[in-house]
Amino acid sequence: ASLELGPYSHFMQKEIHEQPKALSDTIEAVLENGFAAGLFGARAAELLPQVEGVKILACGTSFYAGLTAKYWIESIAGISCDVEIASEYRYRDAFANPRHLVVTISQSGETLDTMEALKYAKELGHNMALSICNVRESAIPRASELVFYTRAGAEIGVASTKAFTTQLVGLFALAVTLGKLRGRVDAQAEHGYQEALRQLPGSVQHALNLEPQIKAWSDKFAAKQNALFLGRGLHYPIALEGALKLKEISYIHAEAYPAGELKHGPLALVDESMPVVVIAPNDALLEKVKSNMQEVRARGGELFVFADLDSHFSESDGVHVIRTPRHVGVLSAIVHTIPVQLLAYHVALARGTDVDKPRNLAKSVTVE
Ligand code: AGP
Repeated sequence: ASLELGPYSHFMQKEIHEQPKALSDTIEAVLENGFAAGLFGARAAELLPQVEGVKILACGTSFYAGLTAKYWIESIAGISCDVEIASEYRYRDAFANPRHLVVTISQSGETLDTMEALKYAKELGHNMALSICNVRESAIPRASELVFYTRAGAEIGVASTKAFTTQLVGLFALAVTLGKLRGRVDAQAEHGYQEALRQLPGSVQHALNLEPQIKAWSDKFAAKQNALFLGRGLHYPIALEGALKLKEISYIHAEAYPAGELKHGPLALVDESMPVVVIAPNDALLEKVKSNMQEVRARGGELFVFADLDSHFSESDGVHVIRTPRHVGVLSAIVHTIPVQLLAYHVALARGTDVDKPRNLAKSVTVE
């Protein structure tokens, strides 16, 4: 194993650091095709122009990739998108519109709940299904009309990292492709999206370079029982992903909220013993996030803020700040995934848990 791990201590750490490469490999496929339907398989040119809505089905981290994609699909493609936990969808009396594209997201392509949700969608009358998957020829892409393979390479750590960020690239490409087909993305906008993808691996590398600073924070979390993660808009699903990573590998109870929801309940949890991680890039919601942070600080909660260079945050009593790269626009959620992955990893290390094989969990969940 040590040969395979190279300079890294765990597969998870190695896979976190492989992201610039995993992303550029996946982006290469997108740029070669230039957001054309063919990116999603031989039948995509026939099927994608018929799509009037999107239904995403997935579990766990892949579900959070779906939640992120909803923002892109509705704003870039201008069509409705709903995202559902596969194990819930498969057992409910769902409404099916055959003009809606079913998108399953699965690293392994073998997750039983996702596979069964796909079969159920077909029974209900869906006949356009796209699989976003990392494992070639696995069960879910084989049962789908369309497929986009992420090029993350084998992911061994139970906690998904590079699969998630590359799924996001595939989903972003889907949003832009649907947007083009619907006449909502002109040549200039398309060029902008291509540039954003080209610059992504460099920004992700910049975020990886924050590891020593994030490691320095981990000691402050190691003795905690609970943590809250906050984000808004596209960064809310990233807060969910950060909380899941921390739960899975450090066994600290963590929850994520869209920051505006604090006052509707979770604020009651905040006191001096509650660390609150905030993803606060300089976007349209930054001022809102700042006022949500004051609500936390006023109750004694300790803030750990990931803010990009343009957010203009400074450290103060109970407010710790790590500066992520300059705001990268529409793909910012991908860049901000890196620090929450690294935080979970270093907190787990500090607590001495089995990072690559956390208790009670399996890499691919092929049972109900
Ligand atoms: C992520 O860290 C998890 N281990 C888990 O939530 C995982 O994402 C989920 O089981 C779905 O797996 P899949 O992507 O292979 O379908």
